Amino acid sequence: MSNQKLSVSDLISIQNLTTSDISLIFSSAKMLKEKPLNFSGVLNNKTLALIFEKPSLRTRVTFDVGMTSMGGSSVFLDHSSTKLGERESIKDVARNLERWVDGIVARTYKNKSVIDLAAHAKIPVINGLTDLLHPCQALADFFTIYERFGSTNNLKFCFVGDGNNTCHSLMLAAGLLGVSFFVTTPPGFEPNPDIVETASKSAALTGGSIRVITNPNEAVQQANIVYTDVWASMGQEAEIEQRASVFVDYQVNDSLINQADKDALFMHCLPAHRGYEVATSVIDSTRSIVYDQAENRLHIQKALLYLLMSDPS
Ligand code: CP
Ligand code: NVA
Repeated sequence: MSNQKLSVSDLISIQNLTTSDISLIFSSAKMLKEKPLNFSGVLNNKTLALIFEKPSLRTRVTFDVGMTSMGGSSVFLDHSSTKLGERESIKDVARNLERWVDGIVARTYKNKSVIDLAAHAKIPVINGLTDLLHPCQALADFFTIYERFGSTNNLKFCFVGDGNNTCHSLMLAAGLLGVSFFVTTPPGFEPNPDIVETASKSAALTGGSIRVITNPNEAVQQANIVYTDVWASMGQEAEIEQRASVFVDYQVNDSLINQADKDALFMHCLPAHRGYEVATSVIDSTRSIVYDQAENRLHIQKALLYLLMSDPS
């Protein structure tokens, strides 16, 4: 059903996309959001495998509901006790699944697991979060920003907290979209330098910029968007207490967000820990658009499934 194509056949990282790819994903998501019934049969008889090594609410439900609403179905593979590649090789998992299903979403610890799946499977593979990246989240978040601001140009975006998977994918998207992107983390928790370099190279071409600084008060000045994520990601549970003391000055509370633009919006990928990375008064305020972000996971991922999995019309 889809005539327009992405430049990629898998979604592993935002860094593999072009700015035109992102525009196509956003325009498709807008149509899917406005007129979902026009797309009710575009994935008839298609099946998506969901491989999850880590827990999920949003990613699991939105991919499942997204498939059903376009006429397809999904099958959930719980890998929380057996990591991908342990019972059998990732290559064999890929070579089996491609005989039965039409696409794979994988949430794994190692980013390489998703890369290996895509290398061995002829069907599309979508990264549903790894220790390094969270591309579906970043696309949904910038789509949400695009809805609010009409454009992503001339925006100052400030990510506060841990230089983690969500931060990496947001930064890569910001580079392609011409955003002025600030990251503020405690020393030692900065984003991956290779990703900073890749995003900075994109930003140099799009009029954006990437800055990594330690002082959160300096970073949020005039920001249009203040974003945070958990201080300890999935897999880092043993570090929760130690991280809570290191990150204490990086809580997004009223005192911090009031230094941003007066109309600044608050964003969080969720799940959130009120009283840790974000104060209740901020996440539950009128500035907060966290549930719009969560809703848009559905529309953006439907767009990805449609663009990657539907038959050419
Ligand atoms: N934001 C996000 O990916 O949520 P889940 O971990 O619940 O899927
Ligand atoms: N950084 C978080 C994101 C959860 C959606 C984690 O990896 O746990």
